Amino acid sequence: MADHLFERPMTTPTPLPGHPHIAYQNNALCIEGQPLAALAQAHGTPLFVYSKASMLDALAAYQRGFAGRKAQICYAMKANSTLGVLQVFAQAGCGFDIVSSGELDRVLAAGAVPAKVIFSGVGKTRHEMRHALQVGIGCFNVESTAELEVLNVEALALGLRAPISIRVNPNVDPKTHPYISTGLKGNKFGIAHEDTLATYQRAASLPGLRVVGIDCHIGSQITEETPYLDAMDRVLDLVDAIEAAGIPLAHIDFGGGLGINYQDDTPPAADALWHKLLAKLDVRGYGQRQLMIEPGRSLVGNAGVCVTEVLYLKPGEQKNFAIIDAAMNDLPRPAMYQAFHHIAPLSPRVDAPVQYDVVGPVCESGDWIGRDRDLAVQPGDLLAVLSAGAYCMSMASNYNSRGRAAEVLVDGPLTHRIRQRETLADQLRLESLVG
Ligand code: LLP
Repeated sequence: MADHLFERPMTTPTPLPGHPHIAYQNNALCIEGQPLAALAQAHGTPLFVYSKASMLDALAAYQRGFAGRKAQICYAMKANSTLGVLQVFAQAGCGFDIVSSGELDRVLAAGAVPAKVIFSGVGKTRHEMRHALQVGIGCFNVESTAELEVLNVEALALGLRAPISIRVNPNVDPKTHPYISTGLKGNKFGIAHEDTLATYQRAASLPGLRVVGIDCHIGSQITEETPYLDAMDRVLDLVDAIEAAGIPLAHIDFGGGLGINYQDDTPPAADALWHKLLAKLDVRGYGQRQLMIEPGRSLVGNAGVCVTEVLYLKPGEQKNFAIIDAAMNDLPRPAMYQAFHHIAPLSPRVDAPVQYDVVGPVCESGDWIGRDRDLAVQPGDLLAVLSAGAYCMSMASNYNSRGRAAEVLVDGPLTHRIRQRETLADQLRLESLVG
């Protein structure tokens, strides 16, 4: 796999394709004009570095798409839940899609407005429900009838009415990796299309609940328009039926995570996609309805890179390995979904490239970050793993007792360290010997 696009020494700033704020400048890979090598020198490796301008650009594409409409963008914080990242979106006026009490407390700590928080997920505990009710979140996206009944009881016990949407499963194939497809009949998410009306009627009869909307989410890393258009039709059919039964829906929360370009992916732009979806909403008479969306990856994915050092080169009979200091505990997506991330040298060499599997130090054959990559590298060289802003740090672990990486947010000439490197003392803090 040739990463040749990324290997030419450049004298004038040349942004990487799809990464307008990441560019080679005088043969040094820079983010918002700051050399990544200098950041690695200051903060060590592995190091996650994010561009604030990239995040705001990605957000602006959605804002353009919704100009003149009533729409609330709720950043799905599971994609990257670091406080400094959440703060960027809170300050930009976003709401948040959360899936746990932990995410709720994190986002409140970052300055979120509780009324702009929506709570998704199939397994909310009673404790989590009470916490979210007391905080006064905007909406619970309820995923089963059993959850509906428990939420009703918990809200009544607090003397409150829980604002709810029901997440419907439109049975649409998002044509993405099976692990991140969520709107098919066999998935654990949402209420089956055919059971939706009865579930809304039950919800409307429960005194502890207040029906405020409908919700749908069909999957993640979606790169085609058709699944969205099909799902929208199916959701609007349900809205017609639910409202005809006398249950008004103040908002429509329509999701399906828009993909980003990891390799040769060509997802539609957010504004172009919403232009088509809004045309459909207009035709069906819902164009002025309050809309909500829950994007995660498309807001942060291509805003982040992971800088890592080449530790060793290990030539072999069948494969050559470049062993780096980042691993599957930092970058779990290749091991989990066979995902592709471009790998670019921070200071490209002119030597002839050699084909390597780029692997981490973790004791598993699944600990690979890139396979069959043509790279001209030597031990001590620094590499950037691209498209690492989403579902990397938020899924990082301590496997092999590795501390989680540090994170830096670049904002033009400013650099903010938004997470310190985790120490062994941090890891051992909650453990004790038996006696
Ligand atoms: N809302 C709900 C209800 C979701 O289930 C998800 C993602 C999102 C919003 C955000 O979707 P996005 O815009 O990020 O596609 N770890 C996987 C992705 C799992 C996504 C799960 N749900 C990966 O690294 O590809």
